[in-house]
Amino acid sequence: MRFSPSFLDEIRARLPVSEVARQRVRLKKEGREWRGLSPFNAEKTPSFFVNDQKGFFHDFSSGKHGDAFKFVMETEGVSFPEAVERLAAMAGIPLPTPSPDQDAREKKRASLVEVLEIATQFFEARLTDKAGAHARAYLAGRQVTPALQKEFRLGYSPADRYAVRDHLAGRGVDREAMIETGLLVHGEDIAVPYDRFRERIIFPIQDRSGRVIAFGGRALEKDVQAKYLNSPETPLFHKGQCLYNHHRARKAAHESSRVVVVEGYMDVIAMAGAGIAECVAPLGTALTPEQCELLWRMAEEPILCFDGDKAGRKAAYRAIDTALPLMSVGRSLRFALLPEGVDPDDLARSSGPAGVADLLDGSLPLMDILWMRETEGRIFDTPERRAAAEQRLSTSVQTIRDASLRRHYEQEVWARLRRLFDTRTSGRPFARRNPMAGARFGRKPGPAPLGAPVEISPTLLRSPLLAGRIGMPMREALILLVLINHPALIGAHAEDLAHLDLTSPEARRVCDFLIRHGEDIVDAGNLAGALDSAGFAALRNTLENFTALTSLWSVQQKASDADAEATLKQALALHRRFGALHTELQEAEAALAREASEHNLARLRDIQAQLSALEGTEAVIEGFGEASGRHRRDL
Ligand code: UTP
Ligand code: MN
Repeated sequence: MRFSPSFLDEIRARLPVSEVARQRVRLKKEGREWRGLSPFNAEKTPSFFVNDQKGFFHDFSSGKHGDAFKFVMETEGVSFPEAVERLAAMAGIPLPTPSPDQDAREKKRASLVEVLEIATQFFEARLTDKAGAHARAYLAGRQVTPALQKEFRLGYSPADRYAVRDHLAGRGVDREAMIETGLLVHGEDIAVPYDRFRERIIFPIQDRSGRVIAFGGRALEKDVQAKYLNSPETPLFHKGQCLYNHHRARKAAHESSRVVVVEGYMDVIAMAGAGIAECVAPLGTALTPEQCELLWRMAEEPILCFDGDKAGRKAAYRAIDTALPLMSVGRSLRFALLPEGVDPDDLARSSGPAGVADLLDGSLPLMDILWMRETEGRIFDTPERRAAAEQRLSTSVQTIRDASLRRHYEQEVWARLRRLFDTRTSGRPFARRNPMAGARFGRKPGPAPLGAPVEISPTLLRSPLLAGRIGMPMREALILLVLINHPALIGAHAEDLAHLDLTSPEARRVCDFLIRHGEDIVDAGNLAGALDSAGFAALRNTLENFTALTSLWSVQQKASDADAEATLKQALALHRRFGALHTELQEAEAALAREASEHNLARLRDIQAQLSALEGTEAVIEGFGEASGRHRRDL
């Protein structure tokens, strides 16, 4: 049986050669290719290569070379039709039922292609003659040069209802073919079928070998109902399986090992104008799995560069869900994020090739965008919210079918969640915050294990109201009070305390005093006296009489040094964490001020979320929050 070229193409499009070869050869990724031991000769050094983008294998040991069909023929010793049957089965494509019409259908397709070619030339001619003056002006206004117009075969469809129909009829094309190619609008209630494309800029849509299979048409006027009109689905055109500019991009992608995906026709053309020929667009729909497959044949990590608006962001987020199940080593996506309100066309025109290059160089891996999607602008201040984020991320990651990749994604997600949620330096991301595990007011607590949950309410410790009363952040006051009441701890923590970044100058002075004298004066009473003589009496009094602090059992003199030390460690850890986050926050704010990019914004939001997660850590010490609440009301 004879197989049609389109049927064979479909198999090739769905089955990377590596997938076929992997049935026989253990392949390892090497740059853009796969490498393994020759299936044709026994060898020790792998000399068998597969290049999925080019769609062939090459075996240096035997000199054999060819596509997936050839591979099956050579390794299985089967005929071409048998190889086709096997690969069709592997790709899940039903074999065409042999019928006497088959040849006729192929011929018909060929004739439809001819019809579309005639139409394309008609539109091209209209753009350059008198009728197209308005359209040419429009394109010039959008900086689409005549060279670009020619390269992309842009055209113009006149306003006349029957211009295309009459032209095609004059060339002997029958009505049925005009309808089948989608050039005429027809229907039961339409007495006389008329031209679909009228008064529009025409963008011919070409298949991977450059044959025109459909058209997109852009209205010239703003108030026209549909800005873009596309050909309907036809025997030649299935929009979810095509990419605009595929055939030109394919060649360019081989040279640059890169392919860029934008949203619109104009974006593709503007990118070409900026020197990025390896650029394609889906056809007005969300990126489909079939389109992902086509993209991966051009490059391992297609860069999605969608508009910097809500819709563009949504489209990018959706693409993640489409791609994840299909991904594996050498098959992922990257994302170039445009500033709000900018599309690639705007950027190419305003910033030129350098601006576009910068944008693409700054593209982010899919993991980052997935993370952004699930964490950006969200607050993780409750266990429910943290659990929900974990669940969303996990659901996405579980869709990855490739086991090894899935495992690595799981690890990465896990690590990021830990960093986001965990206020400490060790432990599991969702370490139990067990109120029984640490200090409780009025009850003798056991020493907190290393890395125990932070039990001091960070919210309280950061409270500006309370801080106002004592002239320093609460956590700094807490650290000082623990030390004043437990001088035995000073020696062991002197190094830490010396480097502590205290915001209040007075706290710094007291801290330095404690480091200098704390080791000699081991008795709390004596130390208090020494502080007072050194001029810190007022401050010491404020601290000792501050209910919000002293209601915390473990800071009191009567608590054991071990309990006090557990609290001190928590306070120090918390303080450092806040300090680090605030430094990061300042850097992120500065970066955002320098460059208002999505990336910088996302970074800022991430840090803000971490800060609020830290603030949201619950106070679990009985009475502590209550006392502070009362106090706040008193103020
Ligand atoms: P955009 O509106 O982003 O297109 O739609 P664009 O290319 O930026 O348009 P202009 O010319 O600069 O204003 C992106 C793509 O979505 C499809 C088209 O394929 C378009 O290129 N689309 C858009 C439609 O099919 N119909 C529409 O009405 C609008
Ligand atoms: Mn645009």
